[in-house]
Amino acid sequence: MTGTDPTDVPRPHAQLHFGVFFQGVNHWTIWSDPASGSQISPESYRRVAQTAERGLFDAFFLGEGLRLREVGGRIHDLDVAGRPDAITQLAALAAVTGRIGLVSTTNTTFNEPADLARRLAGLDLLSGGRAGWNVVTTDNAWTGENFRRGGFLDHADRYRRAEEFVNAARAIWDGWADDAVATSADAPSWARPGAISPVRLRGEQFTADVTPSLPRSRQGHPVIFQAGDSGDGRDFAARNADVIFSAHGTDFDDALAFADDIRARLHAAGRAEDDLRILPGTSIVIGATPAEAEEKAAWVRREQITPATALAQAGLLWNLDLSDHDPDGPLPKEDPRPQDNTGAFGAARIPDAVNIVRRWREAADANGWSLRETVIELGQRARGHVGTPQSLADKFARFVRHGAIDGFNVSPYLVPDGLDDIVDLLVPALQERGVYRTAYTGTTLREHLGLRHRESSDKSTRHPVKQQ
Ligand SMILES: Cc1cc2nc3c(=O)[nH]c(=O)nc-3n(C[C@H](O)[C@H](O)[C@H](O)COP(=O)(O)O)c2cc1C
Repeated sequence: MTGTDPTDVPRPHAQLHFGVFFQGVNHWTIWSDPASGSQISPESYRRVAQTAERGLFDAFFLGEGLRLREVGGRIHDLDVAGRPDAITQLAALAAVTGRIGLVSTTNTTFNEPADLARRLAGLDLLSGGRAGWNVVTTDNAWTGENFRRGGFLDHADRYRRAEEFVNAARAIWDGWADDAVATSADAPSWARPGAISPVRLRGEQFTADVTPSLPRSRQGHPVIFQAGDSGDGRDFAARNADVIFSAHGTDFDDALAFADDIRARLHAAGRAEDDLRILPGTSIVIGATPAEAEEKAAWVRREQITPATALAQAGLLWNLDLSDHDPDGPLPKEDPRPQDNTGAFGAARIPDAVNIVRRWREAADANGWSLRETVIELGQRARGHVGTPQSLADKFARFVRHGAIDGFNVSPYLVPDGLDDIVDLLVPALQERGVYRTAYTGTTLREHLGLRHRESSDKSTRHPVKQQ
């Protein structure tokens, strides 16, 4: 709780930042209920982005899924299906929003810096300085098979490439001086002579000579997000990111331990604590009373784990195609097949599947659960918070004032109306507690997040890129 004295906390004036993660079709978003609208229509994206802006959110956020998941060779349509290219989608949203940041998850494994830096800079200019780039390396060989070069880079090489990629993108964005473009028609030229510097990339990963074609935006260049949880991923974030999209925001102690770990890595990288924001992904279920909230959360869970999703999730655990299995029948009799090393289902491997299956069997026997009921009770769950607007606001105020998080990237479980009660009920409760803005005070994503502006000559967090 906030305690009797709200100033008796490490960060009494801390503010909570919200992003909204529009997931589209996946097993956390209910698609098969009459309350659900389209997961892919432009109208749904517009509605969610405008609702988030009404709620003074910092950012609208899209993930990346370049290849459909499969379970045992069968396409699984309830994850990452229908996700459009994020930059294209966000460019459309830039036209129907005015303040909210627009963050594109785009990988560094299958792209090239000159191309991607230019596309992101385009979004940043088009939106008046509201673009963000969530840097991911993409964690499976499955996606790699989409690409001509085929295959896959191992974990360490993916992060080596990501680091060089981000440094290259920054060098390209910094290729134009802040004051390169004439501000008056009386100026002798549109671009000041000498204000555009060619970038010469000579690294392990990239050899290119780039003359950047776009000037800097109102916020300098896109805000850098990072999502990746390994030691390499955290170090990468500490060196390069402005925001971490983490998976540590449900349990207070876990969130604080993660934040402390990141702060230690930030210090080691020579950066100030205030240079980075931590926004864990979460779902939020709100009810008028605690009992109503719990009841709603149980309904959400049942709706998320449809019979098809139960079979797909169990299939991942058993490493078998279970699509012909009866979800309302008992658990499969077979033992799980050893997990292969290819990440062939397009999802993370489950290292201790044998033990998990043993625990599932014991619990199913003890409670008389079907396979689907077992997945509902014990399967992978969306990280989340459940409560009344008041209890959630107290809880979140505690999280942010203790420095465990800087906010949340919220995934609505229903599209397009799932954000409405967060904006209409939770935001006012947070505002009453003084932990949430009552108006936007800036126009750029960098300003919303309270991050300092980066001049094109500011090399403070950049690592050397060979340029001349
Ligand atoms: C919260 C979170 C969200 C992520 N979202 C995506 C995504 O939308 N697309 C994607 O390809 N990878 C995504 N990733 C995975 C990243 O590709 C990441 O590089 C991968 O987890 C491997 O890095 P790690 O071993 O450091 O976690 C996400 C990871 C996290 C933790």
